[in-house]
Amino acid sequence: MSKVFELWDEIGGAFGPSGREDAVREAIAAIAGAYIDDITTDALGNLICRKKGSGKKLLFAAHMDSIGVVANYIDEKGFIRFSQVGGLFYGDLINITVRFANGTRGVISYEEKTPFKELTLDGLFIDIGARDRASAEALVQVGDFAVFDAPRFEQNGVLCGPYLDDRIGCVALLLALEQLADVQTDNDLYFVFTAQEEVGLRGAGAAAFAVEPAVAVAVDVTDTGDLPEQKAPMAVALGKGPAIKVMDRSVICTPAVCAALEQAGADCGIATQREILRFGGTDTAALQRTRAGVQVGAVSIPTRYIHSPSEMCAVSDVEQAATLLARFAQL
Ligand code: CO
Ligand code: ZN
Repeated sequence: MSKVFELWDEIGGAFGPSGREDAVREAIAAIAGAYIDDITTDALGNLICRKKGSGKKLLFAAHMDSIGVVANYIDEKGFIRFSQVGGLFYGDLINITVRFANGTRGVISYEEKTPFKELTLDGLFIDIGARDRASAEALVQVGDFAVFDAPRFEQNGVLCGPYLDDRIGCVALLLALEQLADVQTDNDLYFVFTAQEEVGLRGAGAAAFAVEPAVAVAVDVTDTGDLPEQKAPMAVALGKGPAIKVMDRSVICTPAVCAALEQAGADCGIATQREILRFGGTDTAALQRTRAGVQVGAVSIPTRYIHSPSEMCAVSDVEQAATLLARFAQL
């Protein structure tokens, strides 16, 4: 089993939908603590880890929060209706298991009378096996959040399970920190584990406002174009190296930062891919628009089935992303 898997299993398994990142933050702080000089949590819940230096300020960010659901109504039969926390594809949700913070598990299913193609969130419910509203409310209350509850495994050099997005970015940052443990650099390094990315990049901007970095780099997952009969071509593939984001729907990265990230990869003998994501966004966009503007780049882990309970990425891409980031931190 790889170290990447062990770290991901630990912080990926921590409960942390958007706005409820506490357990993830604690797990990350416990690991990062050994490698940094200073650690703070701001009012939004961002975890800001600093490795002090007298030189330029570099900020690295990965988001701690995951997508999930939140109970918003419990009917008289004990079925729970829910709202979405972040982007969900309804087809991914049928008859899967979710887990609430207190460990209560439930199955998401749907009203059969609605034709499958016309399904919306209103046609879905969570079944926790309750007899009635009172027995449901003994375990789950309106306002309680739940996350995907599915196994994590490593096989054939890939990782699979819920919440690579973006706990695997957190893992890449932790591995980079470890590599920097004995390195001498003047750079003032901030490793920021952000809150509430999945609901609209809400945490990262506040953290960057506080840090005032010269350059910021976000680490997150991106799609791949390597599956059978896909709708649109995409140049990114699993296992071909970390992807350097050129643009997505939320951001156009700073060309000089893209070039420096590619150079950092080349310096370490790591092949990189160029990423253009036609939809979606990452913390990169929020970091870029802080104060008078920040130079930004992004390193992406190519990932299949994003936002499903069975995301998949290559171990080697994560290891190489960490090495590239550690190198970039010294430039
Ligand atoms: Co996401
Ligand atoms: Zn993400």
